[in-house]
Amino acid sequence: MPQSKLFTPVTIPARSGAGLALRNRAVLPPMCQYSIDKQDGVPTSWQLVHLGSRASGGFGLVIAEATAVVPEGRISNLDVGLWNDEQVQAWKPITQFIHSQGAAAGVQLAHAGAKASTYGWLKELEEAGKTGSLSEADGGWQTVTSSPSELYGLNPAAEMSREQIAESVQSWADAARRADEAGFDLIQIHGAHGYLIHQFLSPLSNQRTDEYGGSWENRTRYVREVVSAVAAVWPHDKALGIRLSGEDWVEDGWDIEQTVRLAQELYTLGVRAFDLSSAGIGPYHGPTGPGYQVPLAAAVKAALPQDAFVTAVGVITEPAQAEHILVTHQADGVSIGRAALGDPQWANRAAKALGAPGATPAQYWRGRW
Ligand code: FNR
Repeated sequence: MPQSKLFTPVTIPARSGAGLALRNRAVLPPMCQYSIDKQDGVPTSWQLVHLGSRASGGFGLVIAEATAVVPEGRISNLDVGLWNDEQVQAWKPITQFIHSQGAAAGVQLAHAGAKASTYGWLKELEEAGKTGSLSEADGGWQTVTSSPSELYGLNPAAEMSREQIAESVQSWADAARRADEAGFDLIQIHGAHGYLIHQFLSPLSNQRTDEYGGSWENRTRYVREVVSAVAAVWPHDKALGIRLSGEDWVEDGWDIEQTVRLAQELYTLGVRAFDLSSAGIGPYHGPTGPGYQVPLAAAVKAALPQDAFVTAVGVITEPAQAEHILVTHQADGVSIGRAALGDPQWANRAAKALGAPGATPAQYWRGRW
């Protein structure tokens, strides 16, 4: 059997130094856990176990859930954050454990914009009818966005002033500095799924008439400023990434041509890891099914210099499916979300299926799975 591509080590380049070496190309994508003890953005033993078990499950890179750069940027009051030192200290043992298992530790920095201040997606909340915008009684707050829109079906968000935009850009950089202190190896900037950055990018949601709206240059100004600010403080020997929605799947929306152009621009600003998802502004109109977003990753990969690390995500569940995406050069890595929720040892199991050594923890070597 030829050597598995999925289990061939790879390096995400940094702007200086050796870059981030990954033992394989299986990535755990960020997945909100809505699991903290107080509403203080501080990660708990749940995050340690959730991320730690996927690190011991053989993934090359484990990325922590959407982590708010400011309190008002949280999707819900159960989100984790990186806006203060207490949070930095709580992330440290988590990144240390991930490293102890041979995996790299990433964090997704996020601001939900108009899609902030919701109840979060927990079954018990949904069953109690607690969905959509947080009520004032439950601690809801005023949200902010590029320009107000009905598309979110949530309480109206306020249009950000230029001063607020400038402060917001700075808050991404401050969170990046804290992510470094917390021991993360990679930042993934959340530019997808209809959250704040995407609210600036998409012509569906951005109706501004100043230099942050209108033309492609203007709609991409906010993300370019965020990336530049993060790149200025994030150590040059660490890896910088972004997740983008490659399509709104709506005519006259944000599309793959604009995404490719943006990815090329962000590459010049120092981004080397690109994860291609889709949608998030308004109701979903796109395709679905196995590997449905892979063509978006393939389009970005084809347009970027060879050393970029482009990952595909979305209903990638089978080892052979993941291997196919890689050997056909559609992506450099694969993100395995829900399949890894069901099976923390997904990567070690995939290694076995593909005839690669894998990284089964010493504690489990007698297991016959
Ligand atoms: C997600 N997803 C997600 N995406 C993201 O960019 N930030 C996040 O915090 C979350 N949170 C989240 C929570 C849960 C419970 C799920 C299931 C998903 C999306 C996720 O990263 C991934 O893109 C999708 O799940 C599609 O991949 P799979 O699950 O089909 O492999």
